[in-house]
Amino acid sequence: MQDKKVAGFSKWSKADKLRWLTQNFTAQADAADAELRSFWHADERLQRTLDSFSENTVSNFHLPYGIAPNFVINGRTYAVPMVTEESSVVAAASSAAKYWAERGGFHSKVLGTVKLGQVHFLWHGCPEHLQRVFPLLEQRLRQDAAYLTANMEKRGGGILYIELLNLSSQEPSLYQLRAGFETCDSMGANFINSVLEAFETSLENFIQQCPDLPANERKVEVIMSILSNYTPSCLVSAWVECPVDHLGEPGRETEARAMAERFRMAVRIAQIDPYRAVTHNKGIMNGVDAIVLATANDFRAIEACAHAYAARDGQYRSLSRCTIEQGVFRFQLDIPLALGAVGGLTKLHPLAARTLEILGHPSASELMTIVAAVGLAQNFAAVRSLVTTGIQHGHMRMHLMNILQHLGATEAETAAACAWFADKVVSFSNVRDYLQQLRQSVAVPKL
Ligand code: MEV
Repeated sequence: MQDKKVAGFSKWSKADKLRWLTQNFTAQADAADAELRSFWHADERLQRTLDSFSENTVSNFHLPYGIAPNFVINGRTYAVPMVTEESSVVAAASSAAKYWAERGGFHSKVLGTVKLGQVHFLWHGCPEHLQRVFPLLEQRLRQDAAYLTANMEKRGGGILYIELLNLSSQEPSLYQLRAGFETCDSMGANFINSVLEAFETSLENFIQQCPDLPANERKVEVIMSILSNYTPSCLVSAWVECPVDHLGEPGRETEARAMAERFRMAVRIAQIDPYRAVTHNKGIMNGVDAIVLATANDFRAIEACAHAYAARDGQYRSLSRCTIEQGVFRFQLDIPLALGAVGGLTKLHPLAARTLEILGHPSASELMTIVAAVGLAQNFAAVRSLVTTGIQHGHMRMHLMNILQHLGATEAETAAACAWFADKVVSFSNVRDYLQQLRQSVAVPKL
């Protein structure tokens, strides 16, 4: 078999990378080359910006940028940009937004904004000795990092605390410096990592020179320094509530009460059963990721943190909960969200900057409230469908549209197929057969 390994790829021109790629890994090199090029942005300057976000870039991968309007959050109305490839996510968010806009809107409150960083190190000595010199070490860490923290302090942030953790019962000689940070409107990853690396040097110097430690304990080995994406104290809560009877149309209160009870039970199941909880939380992240991506924040960090938080008591559970008390339905989501509204790609990516403009240039805290509300809306829409019509009802229309588009259906054929499949099972073969029959029989009347 031909060896397709390559050396020095990153240094090649974009055109050379494309040629090599398409000639070696696609069936029709010219067509593949042309297709990948066709997704380049017409504005060369903008394309260079996009290329610069990553490495070995040969094209752009487009995803739909949709809008969920009518999001009333803490009394303010937002049109929320959402980037997702999954059909029906934006429609579901929009429907939940409109529904709750008529019932008092979403409420959302930031409960904390602490970000975390860690220096993991090995130290061979008596734990009490290290504990005793820690206050001096902390002073030194802060002093040595002052040149990095000065600007953040002017903005109201900086190092909040530094702790020394002894992990030697789990791994001999293992210790950790764990620091809490306030990074204001930035996500703060660069800031935190720079401070941690400064800590690393200070720690080594301090231990080496510490007169209060016995000579044989003046050595430390730093293993690594990095921010933690688990930020349980960077937390936001979003909730909706209304009298149970207001959940349905006037005159259909009994139906509304039954729906509310089934809804509460569905959320309860996701608290009890991890298999359901993962799918339930995936529904929340459908909304969260879509807006996080539209702001060019790090959705992998947000995902990792949310799932760790969902398992914080040792079992993976629903991030949302629902109560019905004294006739009031309340549905709440608590989720850690370490987001930035400045820095990173938020300005560099033109559409991320546009998203933030559309959202009214929110602070990081306001962005947390918006994202949490979108996650809750998405969760509400999914669970409501599940306990009423079933999820396929809404999904199937989108699925049908995708199949019809794939099969090149005309507008008239699409309308006919939608009417035909309103009460029938949608599958690729069913739709293909239907279209074939339609095309073979009478001419489709123009709409
Ligand atoms: C599909 O992307 C998301 C749902 O499965 C979420 C849920 O089951 O709650 C519909």
